[in-house]
Amino acid sequence: MQQKIIILDFGSQTTQLIGRRVRELDTFCEILPYNKFPQNDPTVIGVILSGSPYSVHDPEAFKVDLSQFVGKVPVLGICYGAQFISYANGGKVEKADSREYGRANLTQFDSQNPLFAGFEPNSQVWMSHGDTITAIPDGFECIASTANVRYAAYASTLQPIWAVQFHPEVFHSVQGTQLLRNFVVDICGSKQEWSAASFIDTTVNELRQQLGNDRVILGLSGGVDSSVCATLLNKAIGNRLTCIFVDHGMLRKNEFSKVMDMYNGLGLNVIGVDASDRFFKDLEGVTDPEQKRKIIGRDFVEVFNAEARKITDAKWLAQGTIYPDRIESLNITGKVIKSHHNVGGLPEEMHLSLCEPLKWLFKDEVRRVGHQLGIPDRLIKRHPFPGPGLAVRILGDITREKVRILQDADDIYISAMEQYVCPDGELLYDKVWQAGTVLLSTVRSVGVMGDERTYEHPVALRAVTSTDAMTADWAHLPYDFMAKVSNEIINKVRGVNRVCYDISSKPPATIEWE
Ligand code: XMP
Repeated sequence: MQQKIIILDFGSQTTQLIGRRVRELDTFCEILPYNKFPQNDPTVIGVILSGSPYSVHDPEAFKVDLSQFVGKVPVLGICYGAQFISYANGGKVEKADSREYGRANLTQFDSQNPLFAGFEPNSQVWMSHGDTITAIPDGFECIASTANVRYAAYASTLQPIWAVQFHPEVFHSVQGTQLLRNFVVDICGSKQEWSAASFIDTTVNELRQQLGNDRVILGLSGGVDSSVCATLLNKAIGNRLTCIFVDHGMLRKNEFSKVMDMYNGLGLNVIGVDASDRFFKDLEGVTDPEQKRKIIGRDFVEVFNAEARKITDAKWLAQGTIYPDRIESLNITGKVIKSHHNVGGLPEEMHLSLCEPLKWLFKDEVRRVGHQLGIPDRLIKRHPFPGPGLAVRILGDITREKVRILQDADDIYISAMEQYVCPDGELLYDKVWQAGTVLLSTVRSVGVMGDERTYEHPVALRAVTSTDAMTADWAHLPYDFMAKVSNEIINKVRGVNRVCYDISSKPPATIEWE
């Protein structure tokens, strides 16, 4: 029986982070909308209530019937979760005189309380709330305070309920992981059996049972998720898995052949389809970004489907969908947003069922599973790359020549990044979430090379740091690195005479230019 922690999501931006922290404690968890607590599930060993953008007094605030789990399994309320528990039990929550935001220190805490086992005096925590608890309910006691927040943490004296107004899941709560460990492992009794190896064993067994002797089709992209998904399925059903990898001609330099070699090395049964002529033809003269995306999306689905149809006995379509793609996160209008899928729909007449073996994993777990499966680091640590490829990094119309220019510039940039060792010993490539070059082919500027005047295109370098691509900051690349890359691109890439660096964050910009 696999134990699990349920995290009820009240719409906080850090709910996913709570999930990741729990998984880092080798404990399985599920993030569910606040009103979807699973009834009668004996595998649930504890419940965490997340923060929320609401005040408990807002008419639209999310409310939950605590009796579904209180007294049955241990409960931890975080921020809004803590305020809601107080409010629902007759305590008092009021607007704070000033918003309590940022670092604070636990000036007092009950070192005998199991939630604070191992805590250092004055432990730093992170606060972020506009309301504050001014009175805790009967039957509860204060177990920690900061200089400004009297009830930084409180607990029930009668039932297994704990509540903290700070955010243990964020990095700035220095002993936050310790607190979550105290809750998940010591209080809830997690046996910490969730690991990459156990996930692979369990999943391979489940896939064998689910798929029997059926044939499965999977679309590979060269990215981490689809590659790990394919390798896992290959381990379960071997050659009954057929992978299709479509080359639309706008991949990185030599990427199609490099990735095909890697897949063959992993023993995957892969059909590589070079459909670049068709894509270039259909994109001829198209300059509008949305139009480009639509054409590529449509062509991709058609090429993929044409290949898939040839595998007449296939019963399943496998996808590398991962957990963050699926989590029903709540926005503050109260609507539940169902997240996207990443592959276009296959024709209904094929009657394929969907198989998504990575659907419970966070990105870093997918990487750990990939590593455990023996997938080379180069593939596991790859930066994300957009489905439409370099097409969304060429402003203006797309030609083979422009793709060639961009591939050459991108290759110089990314290879240099893969080789650049930072002072802490980590590769620059691994520090950056995503990097690439953009060809401003609608712009020309004057330059001079040797004695010749040039009038050519600029290339923009883009590099961002991020944790989920929803928000991103431009990466502060070392100047010596940028100097080397700029020099090499201008000297070696015919058609480029200027290099710029994009210093826009997301929002308001996006990571890709189109
Ligand atoms: P933006 O440009 O919206 O990109 O900030 C966020 C992340 O998504 C990637 N991206 C795509 N990935 N198909 C994909 O599979 C697409 O059409 C697509 N467009 C953008 C982008 O590279 C970044 O990681």
